Amino acid sequence: MIIRELLQLGYEKTQEFNKEPTAAKLLLSGLLEMSYSDIFINYDKEITDEKAEDYLELLDFHVLENVPIQYLIGSTNFYGRRFTVDERVLIPRPETEYLVDKVVKKLPNDLKVLEIGTGSGCIGVTLNLEKKYEVDATDICEDALAVAESNMKMNEANINLIKSDLYENITEKYDLIISNPPYVSETDEVAESVYFEPEIALYSDYYGTLHISVIILGATKHLNQDGMIILEHGYKHGLFIKRLVSNFLPEYRVFTLKDLQGKDRYSVIRKRGSVWKKDK
Ligand SMILES: C[S@@+](CC[C@H](N)C(=O)[O-])C[C@H]1O[C@@H](n2cnc3c(N)ncnc32)[C@H](O)[C@@H]1O
Repeated sequence: MIIRELLQLGYEKTQEFNKEPTAAKLLLSGLLEMSYSDIFINYDKEITDEKAEDYLELLDFHVLENVPIQYLIGSTNFYGRRFTVDERVLIPRPETEYLVDKVVKKLPNDLKVLEIGTGSGCIGVTLNLEKKYEVDATDICEDALAVAESNMKMNEANINLIKSDLYENITEKYDLIISNPPYVSETDEVAESVYFEPEIALYSDYYGTLHISVIILGATKHLNQDGMIILEHGYKHGLFIKRLVSNFLPEYRVFTLKDLQGKDRYSVIRKRGSVWKKDK
């Protein structure tokens, strides 16, 4: 069988089970370790029966049991780099990549950064490599930290990984505290594929606001003069964060930013009138 025929079978299978057709291509690209353009260039290349069987078997796990393709191939792409992912960590989302892109393009270099809840390490590793930031990246979960460590090594980054429940083991101060914390509410409906991801990475009490609140209220002790907090959060949390900050940290301001779907997804929190010397 040639690659084109196998991919065609994959497309037919995804169509039959109402799945995104891109899943067929993503799985093939991961299994053959080829980029999409390599697949296209090698359309007429023969593929062994064994590989073809592996492919169709794995695709069944996706279409029949909703296992995310990224877990089936054991990796994902984030900001142009490969990151290992498995059931120990959340699969990095495009929303997070978009946030990282804003930081890369808009913030100055040479910041000292705390990332809370690093999971696969995608945020901390990318900011260390793209901006040369000195990054302390935490997670409450040792399994997640092991994945982050292997991603740090694979991508030749250098970040400090710290096991910590939020600020529990954090003693230093930072220019930037960034986090994509758990923010799903137990009352939210989630896609079936999300059931494969770790609950600890997803859910937060009080309608998804507990982690966000502790991160914001605890940040003042850990921010340098003119420091900034950047959070990814649920699209319903923007107003909650504005109220929290105006009630408890009135000297701070909140800028709510939208994701690519136009939903409130990120908050930037900073003391009024702050400017980094590096901004000037
Ligand atoms: C939504 S995931 C984000 C993972 C990764 N930063 C990303 O953006 O893809 C949240 C992460 O926070 C971690 N976490 C959950 N509760 C925590 C806590 N109390 N303190 C530190 N990390 C926590 C989870 O283990 C998980 O890795």
